[in-house]
Amino acid sequence: MNRDELRQRLTFYRDLGVKEVYKRGRKPVAAVAAVELPVAIPSLAPAGDTLGKIREDIGDCRRCRLCEARAKIVFGSGNENARLVFVGEGPGADEDAQGLPFVGRAGQLLTQMIDNTASKEGIPIRRQDVYICNVVKCRPPENRTPLPDEMEICGEFLFRQLMAIRPKAICALGSTAAKALLATKDGVTRLRGHWHKWRDIPVIVTFHPSYLLRPYNQNAKREAWDDLKKVLHFVYD
Ligand code: URA
Repeated sequence: MNRDELRQRLTFYRDLGVKEVYKRGRKPVAAVAAVELPVAIPSLAPAGDTLGKIREDIGDCRRCRLCEARAKIVFGSGNENARLVFVGEGPGADEDAQGLPFVGRAGQLLTQMIDNTASKEGIPIRRQDVYICNVVKCRPPENRTPLPDEMEICGEFLFRQLMAIRPKAICALGSTAAKALLATKDGVTRLRGHWHKWRDIPVIVTFHPSYLLRPYNQNAKREAWDDLKKVLHFVYD
């Protein structure tokens, strides 16, 4: 097993909650200490990369187990020159059927949030003016959270998308997107409300629209609207 394979294996164990691993005849080694980042930083994007080239490179992807049950690869949609990119977790059933991100119930809420907030704040943009994509491009079975190796493999394409677009800011929707971009284990409540960076691009983290659809999360809704206002003004003022 080489270093990369070992790191991936240890990351996987750590995410399962395994705190120590043993090498026969040795003292235990802390899995957490052995792996600093939950998701590896991928190589830099090829020079002259474009969204079209990235989609072509994904092809009829079979790089991870998510290909087995997917109907369509959900690459991303919106303005290829967007100044703002939203990153979600992964396609749900509606997205898998249509091949487009955020078209189900959570997507309709995201559209409303973008369109209504922009309009109220006097910012002349609509959903089609931003770019929207996900950490993983294929629907996880039963909408489960993507596994670390799935995020790592697909993360390479997400990072290339972000490098190709080079937006002024990124909005991470939910903790999976935050984890992929910021290599953190902190949850949204901790991360939201201030700026972070992915490479040199400012990142705001907010609640995932699916979370906001649950009736008992009304406070989070207000906070998500505040986050959105903040990022829209930063990008478009
Ligand atoms: N949830 C996501 O994270 N992404 C989608 O595209 C749809 C729902």
